[in-house]
Amino acid sequence: MLEKLESVYQQAQAELTEIRDSAALAAWKSRYIGGKGAVSQLLRGIGGLTPEERPVFGKRANEVMAALDEAYAAREVLVQDIEMAADLEGAVLDVTLPGRQPAMGRLHPSTQTLRRFSEIWAEMGFSVYRSRDVETDEMNFTLLNFPPHHPARDMQDTFYTTDPDVILRTHTSAGQIRAMRELGGGGTKPIRVVLPGMCYRFEQITNRSEAQFYQVEGIAVGHNITMSDLKGTVAEFARKMYSPDAKVRYRASYFPFTEPSMEIDIECFLCGGEGCSVCKHTGWLEIAGSGMIHPVVLRNGGYDPAEWSGFAFGMGPERIAMLKHGITDIRNFWANDSRFLEQF
Ligand code: DAH
Repeated sequence: MLEKLESVYQQAQAELTEIRDSAALAAWKSRYIGGKGAVSQLLRGIGGLTPEERPVFGKRANEVMAALDEAYAAREVLVQDIEMAADLEGAVLDVTLPGRQPAMGRLHPSTQTLRRFSEIWAEMGFSVYRSRDVETDEMNFTLLNFPPHHPARDMQDTFYTTDPDVILRTHTSAGQIRAMRELGGGGTKPIRVVLPGMCYRFEQITNRSEAQFYQVEGIAVGHNITMSDLKGTVAEFARKMYSPDAKVRYRASYFPFTEPSMEIDIECFLCGGEGCSVCKHTGWLEIAGSGMIHPVVLRNGGYDPAEWSGFAFGMGPERIAMLKHGITDIRNFWANDSRFLEQF
């Protein structure tokens, strides 16, 4: 019996070292150390031994059982490791898993709108003139017929620098004089340009007003340019930008650098002119300020107003994008929250 026990012990140990998965391990456990396993069965035959042999066999059987229990526990840890490693390896090599889509950047909604604007103006013969964000008080106000202390300066709260003559432009109109002087050949050549750019105002930031926003300015200077040219040009822009049958209306207004001046509205594209919350039940949306360039401004740009005339307009693309997409908070444009940006 003792010999039999020793050979079971040897065999159990030998088999255990070959085991590499938990199913085989469970089978081994019930085969050797379970309640009906080989060691228990041998113990059950202890009655057939002589009284002298019994304690010797019993002691040895208990030692074998304890040793096999211990070996089992150690092997169990090893088998778990082997199985985990196999899982991981399988996962790494699983070439059938779909790839992960890298997060792609895209154009900011304002950039998209600006590009569309430039495209349409280009079709009508306007090139892009880039002017500066940091301007002089002269370009932003004085040469545009806002003399110092003129009350119209209060319409645009300004960011000043430590130099009182250096400011952040409050509107893209600040580039008008530069464009005329640079491209007008000293008042001898007609010009047709749009000036897109960021503008800055010292505003309380709310859902409706930001301290920075884009504008797109446009100017055309030539011989015999009239108000009808302005109206026709802007109406054509509206048809291309919004819809082929966009209706446009003009309202008399005031700007120091244009005379006469007008605001341009288009029929509300959300309600078709019926009146809704977006157009505040008027049926119309304001898209631009505009007018005939004031003679003082033409002269400051180098042109003789007796011979030359021109029109100008200024538009706010964010406002239009807000109306179009039902965006209720202008702060979204510069908050850089990808949940907002990825919708465009
Ligand atoms: N600069 C004006 C503003 O920011 C908008 C504007 C009005 C521009 C009339 C123009 C214009 O060129 O002719 O409020």
